Amino acid sequence: MRTSQILSRLGASLVCAASLVKAAAYTVEDTYDSSNFFSQFNFFSAADPTNGFVAYSSAVTANKSGLAGYASGGVFLGVDHTTTNPSGGRGSTRVSSNKAYTHGLFIADIEHMPGGICGVWPSLWTFGPNWPNNGEIDIIEGVNDATTNTVTLHTSSGCAMTSTGSLSSSNLTGTNCNAGNGNDGCGFSTASTQGYGAGFNAVGGGVYAMEWTSTSIKIWNFPRASIPADITSSSPDPSTWSTPVSAFSSGSDGGCAIDSHFSGHNIVFDTTFCGDWAGNVWSSTPTCSALASTCEAYVAANPAAFAEAYWLINSVKVYQGANTSTKREVAFKA
Ligand SMILES: *[C@@H]1O[C@H](CO)[C@@H](O)[C@H](O)[C@H]1NC(C)=O
Ligand SMILES: *[C@@H]1O[C@H](CO)[C@@H](O)[C@H](O)[C@H]1NC(C)=O
Ligand SMILES: *[C@@H]1O[C@H](CO)[C@@H](O)[C@H](O)[C@H]1NC(C)=O
Repeated sequence: MRTSQILSRLGASLVCAASLVKAAAYTVEDTYDSSNFFSQFNFFSAADPTNGFVAYSSAVTANKSGLAGYASGGVFLGVDHTTTNPSGGRGSTRVSSNKAYTHGLFIADIEHMPGGICGVWPSLWTFGPNWPNNGEIDIIEGVNDATTNTVTLHTSSGCAMTSTGSLSSSNLTGTNCNAGNGNDGCGFSTASTQGYGAGFNAVGGGVYAMEWTSTSIKIWNFPRASIPADITSSSPDPSTWSTPVSAFSSGSDGGCAIDSHFSGHNIVFDTTFCGDWAGNVWSSTPTCSALASTCEAYVAANPAAFAEAYWLINSVKVYQGANTSTKREVAFKA
């Protein structure tokens, strides 16, 4: 073979390698929106594992009572904001994706969220079976009068994270993700008031994106006016985005083998009241404790305070790269 032939074969294989790299970009695996959401997410109606003053509705009850449904082109998940002194807790909704994922790029376009209301504890999160052995990723979470988002991971022992690559305004509040360690997990307090509660809703909400690979878990928040065009066009390339609001990386000392601590996650939206976080910090939250002596007393007596405690979700899309391993599991939770 002449050198030119070798070179041209080499050239051909380089072109081939280049197109493989391009093919490794993210492509949509699942889209959940007003066309299918309630057939792909199931309602959790058991007692709240976080001890909230809440009565999670079944699908039938949620539909009948108007707590869940398709509205304004999106998916509505609300709470009871009319009943005074509801017995057994205030009506609300908690839904989980039927499908479970390992790795991926998860993009939620949310128009309105609960939050920033005394007594309320909303969350968008993912978690795996046999908690905490397969991990938990809290993408949006906060309690009571919070004006900014908190991002947290919970795992079994042996996972410590660094904040390398995060926005400098986000503070890592804990590096040890072990849920056995007081269950505080490892996480960030974030700075933008457009990322949570009333501030989020005032700008028409926006997008939260979570990228989970073998080496890092990153979270971005884009207010509606600054959603990257590649998200809008469903061809997202996180390498072109701004710095993540929260980036967890396992660090060079092997602080967390992500693949042995995170797998098989269902996606969950919920809104609970009081309980292990909102209730436990009630007395140390002056704006709330001024309203009633306990969180439960306030939540029971003031239904109208919760009219804005609803999620309106435009879509949740799950993308996979060509080289990510995806476990497909169907987990129906009671
Ligand atoms: C609620 O039930 C009604 C009547 O069966 C149905 O038309 C509607 O689509 C349901 N809403 C949701 C969100 O499932
Ligand atoms: C981060 O910590 C600094 C220094 O303690 C503080 O001034 C700032 O408010 C904190 N930011 C957040 C988002 O908690
Ligand atoms: C895909 O593989 C490349 C090269 O090994 C790696 O840098 C990248 O992180 C992988 N992507 C994901 C989403 O795991």
